[in-house]
Amino acid sequence: MRGVILAGGLGSRLLPLTKVTNKHLLPVYNKPMIYYPIELLVEAGIRDIMIVTGGSSSGEFMRLLGNGKDLGLDSVNYAYQEGEGGIAEALSLAQGFSQGEKVIVVLGDNMVQKSIKAAVQSFSKQKEGAKILIKEVEDPERFGVVEFSGEKIARIIEKPKKAPSRFAVVGIYMYDARVFEIVKTLKRSNRGELEITDVNNQYIEEALMTYDVLDGWWKDAGTFESLYQSSCLMRDKHQEKIPLKK
Ligand code: DAU
Repeated sequence: MRGVILAGGLGSRLLPLTKVTNKHLLPVYNKPMIYYPIELLVEAGIRDIMIVTGGSSSGEFMRLLGNGKDLGLDSVNYAYQEGEGGIAEALSLAQGFSQGEKVIVVLGDNMVQKSIKAAVQSFSKQKEGAKILIKEVEDPERFGVVEFSGEKIARIIEKPKKAPSRFAVVGIYMYDARVFEIVKTLKRSNRGELEITDVNNQYIEEALMTYDVLDGWWKDAGTFESLYQSSCLMRDKHQEKIPLKK
């Protein structure tokens, strides 16, 4: 399975922090944000990684990460997204890199507490289709939200005015190679993007979607408040491993 980290977009909810740099280069506690999704994938056993980015700071990713040696990698692949046409559009740039293998896609601003190794291993045994991770949250309207039919997911609604449940879709998605064909069939949404939620709904319609409930905390660091909280939570996590010197 190959890993794709999406780190494009404008980060406009974080202006002026993102006026002269890319959101995923901003600090989260003691590291640039982009380190966390890379570490998450490496810990889950994924070593073939592509970073999709864009905008005028894209060269800084290569300057920061090089070939990924500091993060335990031999090489890092990079792709450039022109414009901000959506998560599914950014993913489509990884088709050649995927070489027909399954892919795990991580949104570069999604921060999690615990390992996702078990979910990755279970998806590697899944014959076909896709797998998502979901998490109960206080403010589901900010996310893709799950509508259930019993235990099954009936559909996902992107940023609904009134959420059908409190379960949000985490920005960590696992797909078989068919995902790239599905992306080609998508139409742009009202916000002018190719939506990852439309990809997920296609797999749900075909009854080829599985899900796990994510263990531990989850934040998307895309707003001032969640960026601040991510730093605090990552500090706690760091402190559990290496107690800070008084
Ligand atoms: O964080 C989880 C949520 O992420 C999901 O629950 C939603 O279903 C999903 O649509 C997404 O919602 P956001 O509105 O928070 O996505 P955002 O536009 O902030 O993009 C998230 C990441 O995706 C961002 O850190 C960089 C990457 N991205 C985004 C766009 C629009 C790209 O690489 N290229 C893009 O064009």
